[in-house]
Amino acid sequence: MRAYSSNKDIIKLVDKVDSVGLVPTMGSLHEGHLSLIRKALSENEKVIVSIYVNPLQFNNSNDLKKYPRDIKNDLQKLEAFSDVLVYVPNDNDIYKKDEKKKKYNFGQFTKIMEGKMRPGHFDGVAMVVEKLLSMFNPSNAYFGEKDFQQLILIKALVKEQDLKVNIVGCETIREDDGLAMSSRNKLLNNSERDSAGNIIRLLKKAQQLYKSSTLEETKINILRDTLMIENLNLEYFEILDVSRFSAVLKGEKEIRAFIACKVGNIRLIDNITI
Ligand code: PAJ
Repeated sequence: MRAYSSNKDIIKLVDKVDSVGLVPTMGSLHEGHLSLIRKALSENEKVIVSIYVNPLQFNNSNDLKKYPRDIKNDLQKLEAFSDVLVYVPNDNDIYKKDEKKKKYNFGQFTKIMEGKMRPGHFDGVAMVVEKLLSMFNPSNAYFGEKDFQQLILIKALVKEQDLKVNIVGCETIREDDGLAMSSRNKLLNNSERDSAGNIIRLLKKAQQLYKSSTLEETKINILRDTLMIENLNLEYFEILDVSRFSAVLKGEKEIRAFIACKVGNIRLIDNITI
């Protein structure tokens, strides 16, 4: 592993390489991120991991301020991977001075759930990922299903801009109690961490209920359960046929349950296929 703050150095190094994988991250790396990196390494000659807390995707300045940053530890975790090039840009390596936030329109799927709760978030994500993809021109780029709407957004971006990159979705990596790994988990105190373990329990219960009851019954049952969990405030719980919401998923009929909640002050999201 070597770390670079200039993209030119990385571009030079991967110029003659047959296949390059890109794994965009915001750092505070955990096993979820590392699973993307391992998959990328198994499918590409070299892998670029970007670590950049992108201010344009935060719709809340306090959330941006609190977002965990631990670059020293991140680089240590990547040390063992000899074919990894780490890109650690500053704001002015990514955005021009006074550059305006772009507005995208990728359809209905980006207007619900995360799109609705975090106005402007997806525009910020699409903008930084578009920049990273055009900077490095990777053969493959890796994104987690944990952020399922984000994965769809990136597929839509690539389709719309006709980019020559294969987007690879990767399964969600979980803690022993089923909590989806997230950089934000380290902000939870002990009792909040206990409560957060219920998120996967709710999703799995929905999976069971949905086999024998209607969508409405399932939702009501889950909503009732969330009220009993200490520290947990639900933002949304949805069961959706994801193929209905996005052109890029047409023909891939798949029902998923999605949840977003605040545990204490920390916002967490998760989803599973049901
Ligand atoms: P970040 O939250 O750091 O996540 C980086 C990548 O890791 C994303 O593709 C995310 O879906 C994936 N990921 C996170 N937790 C995971 C888990 N438990 N299992 C599997 N994959 C997981 O998502 C972002 O950063 C940013 O929005 C970014 C795409 C980098 C743009 O700024």
